[in-house]
Amino acid sequence: MTTALITGATAGIGAAFARRLAARGHHLVLAARDTDRLWREATDLHDRHGVEADVITADLATDEGIAAVEERLGDRARPIDLLVNNAGFGNKGRYLEVPVADELTMLKVHCEAVLRLTSAATAAMRERGRGGVVNVASVAAFFPRGTYGASKAWVTQFTQGAARDLAGEGVRLMALCPGFVRTEFHERAGMDAGNIPTWMWLDADQVVETALRDLARGKVLSVPDPRYKALLGASRLIPRGVLARASSTTGRKYGPK
Ligand SMILES: NC(=O)c1ccc[n+]([C@@H]2O[C@H](COP(=O)([O-])OP(=O)(O)OC[C@H]3O[C@@H](n4cnc5c(N)ncnc54)[C@H](OP(=O)(O)O)[C@@H]3O)[C@@H](O)[C@H]2O)c1
Repeated sequence: MTTALITGATAGIGAAFARRLAARGHHLVLAARDTDRLWREATDLHDRHGVEADVITADLATDEGIAAVEERLGDRARPIDLLVNNAGFGNKGRYLEVPVADELTMLKVHCEAVLRLTSAATAAMRERGRGGVVNVASVAAFFPRGTYGASKAWVTQFTQGAARDLAGEGVRLMALCPGFVRTEFHERAGMDAGNIPTWMWLDADQVVETALRDLARGKVLSVPDPRYKALLGASRLIPRGVLARASSTTGRKYGPK
């Protein structure tokens, strides 16, 4: 039996990780802000799969919230074998339409929390010579569009670099870069996702299934769908300036509003 800690475990991709890992018999520590929802989910997973499921109420936009999860990850008496840094959100609007304070909150949750939690987890994992970290980024990491994409580019690059630095120490790190996934993400951000073509939507359970398979295979970057793999492959052939213009135009036409 191993234990997985998942941030943003109450909805969407994080909840899908919790369901999948519990079904495979892993004990869980679920972190998010909504305590009642965390306990409902923990109780349900315990009852269904017989695993231990603990919760941490933590707002990862605050130092106290990050510190609470760091402390649990650093507890050598109760080791965490897999960390999934998944908590995240979107801000509606283009650059200068979004208040700077909201952009900074995004950087705190998407970058600072991910850096600090990955560091707390991998320090303990390295001592034991085993463990894994999945950092949930996005295909947005590969397209120059706003703070969201930039924060996910940081997650991706950071994870790839850390994976290289820890190679041979028994600790696996993987950046997960899904495309559009049906979750609460767009609704929470107040975005209208009606323009996004049906073929672009992914299912959270399938994303997680592929992610766990890629992690087991030792992949450092997981793009969990052939359509998005093809899109990224094509984008690499296009000069950055053209890509920026194209992604801005396409994003306005087909992206969330
Ligand atoms: N959906 C997509 O299309 C998509 C695509 C690519 C990547 N992603 C990434 O996937 C990850 C999960 O997104 P999702 O689509 O599953 O979104 P979601 O359904 O809205 O779930 C977000 C989760 O994060 C938690 N969360 C949000 N802010 C938090 C904070 N400050 N502190 C702690 N927990 C917080 C939420 O719980 P509480 O509200 O209880 O805190 C919730 O459990 C994000 O990093 C997102 O950027 C999503």
